[in-house]
Amino acid sequence: MTETTSQPRAMGRPLARLEGADKVTGRAPYAYEHALEDPLYLHPVLSTFARGRVTGVDASEAEALEGVRAVLTPGNAERLADTEDREFAVLQSDEVAFHGQFVAAVVADTPETARQAAGLVRVDYERSQHDVVLTVDHEGLYRPESEGGPASDTEQGEVEEALERAEFLVDHTYSTPTEHNNPMEPHTTVALWEEEAGRLTLYDSTQGVHVVRASVAAVFGLELEQVRVVAPHVGGGFGSKGEAHAHDVLAAMAARALPGRPVKFALTRQQMFCLVGYRTPTIQRVRLGADREGRLGVLVHDSVEQTSTVKEFPEQSAMCSRWMYAAPHRRTTHRMAALDVPVNFWMRAPGEAPGMYALEAAMDELAQACGLDPVELRVRNEPETDPQSGNPWSDRQLVRCLREGAERFGWYGRDPAPGARREGDWLVGTGVASASYPHLFNPGSVAHVRYGDDGRYEVGIGAVDIGTGSWTALTQIAADALGCSADGVRLRIGDTALPEASVAGGSSGTSSWGTAIVTAARAFRAEHGDSPAPGASARASAAQDTVDEGYAVYSFGAHFAEVRVHSYTGEIRVPRMFGMFSVGRVVNPRTVRSQFLGGMVMGMSMALHEESFRDPRYGHIANGDFAEYHVPTNADVGDLRVDWLEGEDLRATPMGSRGVGEIGIVGTAAAVANAVHHATGVRVRDLPVTPDKVL
Ligand code: MOS
Repeated sequence: MTETTSQPRAMGRPLARLEGADKVTGRAPYAYEHALEDPLYLHPVLSTFARGRVTGVDASEAEALEGVRAVLTPGNAERLADTEDREFAVLQSDEVAFHGQFVAAVVADTPETARQAAGLVRVDYERSQHDVVLTVDHEGLYRPESEGGPASDTEQGEVEEALERAEFLVDHTYSTPTEHNNPMEPHTTVALWEEEAGRLTLYDSTQGVHVVRASVAAVFGLELEQVRVVAPHVGGGFGSKGEAHAHDVLAAMAARALPGRPVKFALTRQQMFCLVGYRTPTIQRVRLGADREGRLGVLVHDSVEQTSTVKEFPEQSAMCSRWMYAAPHRRTTHRMAALDVPVNFWMRAPGEAPGMYALEAAMDELAQACGLDPVELRVRNEPETDPQSGNPWSDRQLVRCLREGAERFGWYGRDPAPGARREGDWLVGTGVASASYPHLFNPGSVAHVRYGDDGRYEVGIGAVDIGTGSWTALTQIAADALGCSADGVRLRIGDTALPEASVAGGSSGTSSWGTAIVTAARAFRAEHGDSPAPGASARASAAQDTVDEGYAVYSFGAHFAEVRVHSYTGEIRVPRMFGMFSVGRVVNPRTVRSQFLGGMVMGMSMALHEESFRDPRYGHIANGDFAEYHVPTNADVGDLRVDWLEGEDLRATPMGSRGVGEIGIVGTAAAVANAVHHATGVRVRDLPVTPDKVL
């Protein structure tokens, strides 16, 4: 698509969140808060070991408690229509496949009663040997076949010869731990089954109402029209709410057992550590071979990851090495082992976040080996076209991000020697890393436009605002597409009663939904002209061919970090970070800035704080709460700044924008870890970089 929107007037403005006042005054209903009459409350019973069978459930004590309405067990639960996706096969058999799996559930008049009764349900088990530890030589490692997805392995040129020929060779293994998504709002579903109407309604905390509807309808053998999913406001997801999970099925199952009464189910923070996905640990070997000038001849990136026996999810961490740098000889591979662990899933920039940590840490090691400035090394390896497809870039601005970012951060003039700068007891260092994220676009979203009696345009699409600013950005996009002011648009989202829309995932939401809105607005104008009659309407879907296939469409950026490491205690502080990005047109500078800041905080967190410890004895996460799973607080975040290059990429979307949700976390951990190395001379290759590792 090359047709441009006429000079945008709403896009580009730092409009404050339209629903912001409602949110901070408590008037914006989140899933659990929807006011429904006579609700019941669900509390689940989770398995207490990683593999085996439930041999018996004694619910008599629980059932005897006043206020208990039902106890669901594998013995009495509804048989589901479709359990091909085994994550959804809730209470369908006596098999236990991971620690924390649903083995029963209590529904009661109050949450307290439900919880107390859940504690009274006695479950007997037969335990089997389990396997929950990923190793680089795990005997179950296999190559995932991703149907329709990107190839698991790629190879170009003569890799082995090139490795032998390289004048400088960096060959290291980097590892990242299990990490858990921790959005502020836990995963919550309120389910209501109306027996006579044959209608199931879910008020769900999700990144995609239509996605959840499709899954839940299939699982229960219902028509799509029988299921409605509502999510006007969502308190974050980071990928973990990108699809339905087992709790949606359990809540709906309970509601169907107790027709006419809404069943409320909010996972506890601890339960979120077993049931809503997580980032697999990765073990990544990166080999970079370069000539005397630091030009890469060969790049090999091999990643080992885990998945669950229940359902396969490949993280694909080596993908970034297919497009980041020029190297004629190149290989990427992914291997996985299926363990007795919960289902892993999306966590902000799945693949790119761990992958770019490894690649960008290795690039730093190569810069040091070649005696080159790390910014210069990256500039020298800039590919003219996409190394993977040979296609020209739509808008590759990595070098500008690196150079302008370096200027703005005050990168130049540093002494490259590690451990050279000391201020009192603190060692000071700086680090850099590239960022990149592919432009993902989900076809098939539909929008409708209707001119109302009040002279405003109602724009409807079943999209979701997960806290990122979609309400506001989509309103701005609609205003420009219709040639009116933002006030002239009344946006409706967050409900499957509205037209089909793709998930808020893969940084694709604004691109995909915005394109549908622009398409519908153009259809509206074509049909009704500039002076429509009240009630005039149009509906259109985003075309399949929105993205120009002849181009490699990616976003880029550069992260700079300064760290201080205490020479006696190993305490690591990050006083300064700067991120410079190129994402095409910025639809709303205020919300986009927040996305970058949030991504960078999460990347810094990945570098220094986040690590889920899976206890090999029982297979559970030993630190599954906010007391022990560390995420940064205000005191951990220093002077954090972001900026971006002005741009417009009409090969990506008709708005000229690309996605912004994930690139902020990509490469960030490497910039911090590289800075720690510069400060101390200690190269930590297993995240997080904690004090014990730098001393
Ligand atoms: Mo993002 S991890 O695709 O929500």
